[in-house]
Parts: sequence; structure tokens; C-alpha cells
Amino acid sequence: MKILVTGGAGYIGSHTCVELLNDGHDVAVVDNFCNASPESLRRVEKIAGKKITLYKGDIRDAKLMDKIFAEQSVDWVIHFAGLKAVGESCAKPIEYYDNNIGGTLVLLNAMRAHNVKRIVFSSSATVYGTPERLPLDETCRVGGTTNPYGSSKFFQEIMLKDVYASDNDWTVVLLRYFNPVGAHESGTIGEDPKGIPNNLTPYIAKVAIGELKEVGVFGNDYDTHDGTGVRDYIHVVDLAKGHVAAIDKIGKKGVHVYNLGTGVGYSVLDVVHAFEKACGRTLPYSIKPRRAGDIAACYADASKAKKELGWQAQAGIDEMCASLWKWQSQNPNGYNG
Ligand code: NAD
Ligand code: UFG
Repeated sequence: MKILVTGGAGYIGSHTCVELLNDGHDVAVVDNFCNASPESLRRVEKIAGKKITLYKGDIRDAKLMDKIFAEQSVDWVIHFAGLKAVGESCAKPIEYYDNNIGGTLVLLNAMRAHNVKRIVFSSSATVYGTPERLPLDETCRVGGTTNPYGSSKFFQEIMLKDVYASDNDWTVVLLRYFNPVGAHESGTIGEDPKGIPNNLTPYIAKVAIGELKEVGVFGNDYDTHDGTGVRDYIHVVDLAKGHVAAIDKIGKKGVHVYNLGTGVGYSVLDVVHAFEKACGRTLPYSIKPRRAGDIAACYADASKAKKELGWQAQAGIDEMCASLWKWQSQNPNGYNG
């Protein structure tokens, strides 16, 4: 099938392109490179030994989107393009709503105009807000988001459900990712955050290569096994395969919602210690105050994806950390050399 991947040069997009190509699909990517490098796609092509059709541009550009759908006979869209930094979204809500909501509207309009009605959307565990119960299953309450980024994901889910309600010819897949980490086993593609990382594992990786001094552990007085925050970390390659499973397995029109996680929660200190094993040295850390807006624990019930898509995450935290270390140590400056 021909898959249009928006934001395909980014962290999750690039890994998904590899898995789509390996699964025999044709891939076209649209990306404006606001948070990515074209080098990632060159490396994807090298890993898979296949070519990608690239459109450099913004999904909010209606003319460009019209051109793409006119030129490519797209079967499915996988929609990754968007801004994703929680803290930045609080400082720049207009930019976040413009890109995430505005971009999705232009995309949906172009899809409708060209009669392409199958979309996989990158949603997030953030739509559950403060978890109603743990583990989180897809029937748990959504909403109560606490930042513009999270709200934009929640609103986009509503928009997509409304599109299906208006026209039952659509197939909408909402994939709610838990915490994607790690990198491709080749060590040639991975997460390349600009500036000081906000997320835990890229921060630890920068401490491990000596670029940052120590890991700040945000709170050790949560109601968890060691007092530090617990999350459901999922290997990015497992996550990428979840998209391929969705496209290969979902034949029925409608709105389909799946958690993509492992179902296992690890604390901040568990992750620090797993990374120490991966890089073979002790990592300095210190306990800091809690980070505003953080919850104590968040992990998935991922049994629906297993039952319906035949998909299950394979990698554990040690493999996640080992692959991240391989990427980080082979590419200390990310895609910039
Ligand atoms: P990323 O920033 O690496 O990838 C996003 C890509 O979209 C980048 O290549 C960027 O250049 C591109 N892009 C952004 N706005 C664009 C626009 N208007 N037009 C064209 N291209 C545009 O982020 P990621 O971690 O790969 O995340 C991909 C998706 O998954 C995002 O929608 C994100 O919100 C969602 N998600 C990510 C996480 C996570 O922890 N990484 C968790 C849950 C959901
Ligand atoms: N943490 C630290 N030190 C750091 C960074 C994080 O102790 O330097 C802790 C956090 O307090 C939290 C855990 O590590 O307990 C994970 O934090 P991340 O920032 O890596 O991830 P979050 O769970 O806060 O959020 C991520 C994405 C969101 C997404 C969510 C669920 O940033 O966009 O996962 O998918 F919505």
C-alpha cells in the first residue's frame, strides 16, 4: 500500500518508515524539518534499502497537500506532524494550536477532497490526564489535560471522531503512545532533541556522554515503589511496528482506539540504573523538587492491541537503554555529524 507519513523525518516517524518499507509498503513523507533533519530519511533509506518520496513543506500549506494527494495514490495517512514539547506549549499555546489543530484541519480537508479516508493518528497517554485507574485501558476517562500540547491531542481525537460521525466511510485509528524511548538497532537513527532535553531518557544519555553534569530526579516522594515517578517506556521500534500492525490488520471502517505501551511501569531510578548497565558506568544524579504537572504513575493495559492487532511490545527496559546508548555514543551530535 502507499502510505503518506506526515512528520516522517522525526523520531517516531523515521522508525515507522523503516518498518513500513520492511513490510513492503511504498512511503511518501511530508515534513517541514522544523524538528528534524533530512539526514534521518537518508539513513532510513539505507537501512531499508528502498527509496522514499519526500515532500519538503508544511502540512498547513493547503496547495502543497493538494499537490501531494494529486500525485500520490495514497491508501493510508499516518499523521505524526506536530509540535510536542509540553513546557514550550505552555509558553506558546497559539503556535501549538496553530500547528497541531490547524495542520490536522488542512490535512483532513485535503484527504476528503481526494477521497482518502483512512488515517492513523499519533495520540498520547497524555489524553487520560490524571489517570482514572491503573493500568489505563482505552475505556478510561479522557480529558482534564493540563497543558496546550495535551489539550491539542485531546481536541484532535475529538475532531477525528466527529469526522467519522459525519461520514461513516472513514477509518480513524487513534494510537495512544505511552513513553517512546530507544533507537533502531543499527544505531544510525534515533531521537535528536534540540538543546537541553526535556524528557528523561535523552537527558540521561547526555549525562552518560558527559555533555550534562547529572540527572535531576524530579521528586522522590511519590506513592511508587521507590518514590520516583513511574512510566510505561516502550521501545520506539515496537511502537513503529504497532503502526504497521494497525494498517495491516484494520479493515473495518470506524474509530479504533489502542494504547501502545508495554504494560510495565519503571521508575526514574529504575531507568537510571538500566542505563548504567547499558553504558557501563555509574551515572551521577540528585533529587530535585517534583516537576509541575507530573503524575505519580502512568502505565497501559495494552491487551486490546494484542487481541485485535496481534501486536505486543517485545523489548524490555535493558534493550531500550542499550539501543539508545548505541545511537547516542555513535552519534554524539545527533544528525549534525
Ligand atoms: P518529532 O518532533 O521528532 O517529529 C515530528 C515531525 O513533524 C518532525 O519531523 C517535524 O519536523 C515535523 N513537523 C512538525 N510540524 C510540522 C508541520 N506543520 N508540517 C510538516 N512537518 C511538521 O516528534 P516525535 O517524537 O517523533 O512525535 C511524533 C508524533 O507523536 C507527534 O505528533 C507527537 O505529539 C506524538 N507523540 C510523541 C510522544 C513522544 O514522547 N515522543 C508521545 C506521544 C505522542
Ligand atoms: N524526569 C526526571 N528528570 C528529568 C526528566 C524527567 O526525573 O530530567 C521524570 C519525570 O518527572 C517523569 C519521568 O521522568 O516521572 C518521565 O518524564 P518524561 O518527561 O520523559 O515523560 P512524561 O511522562 O512526562 O511525558 C512524555 C511526553 C509527553 C507524553 C507522555 C505520554 O513528554 O508528551 O510521555 O506519552 F504525553
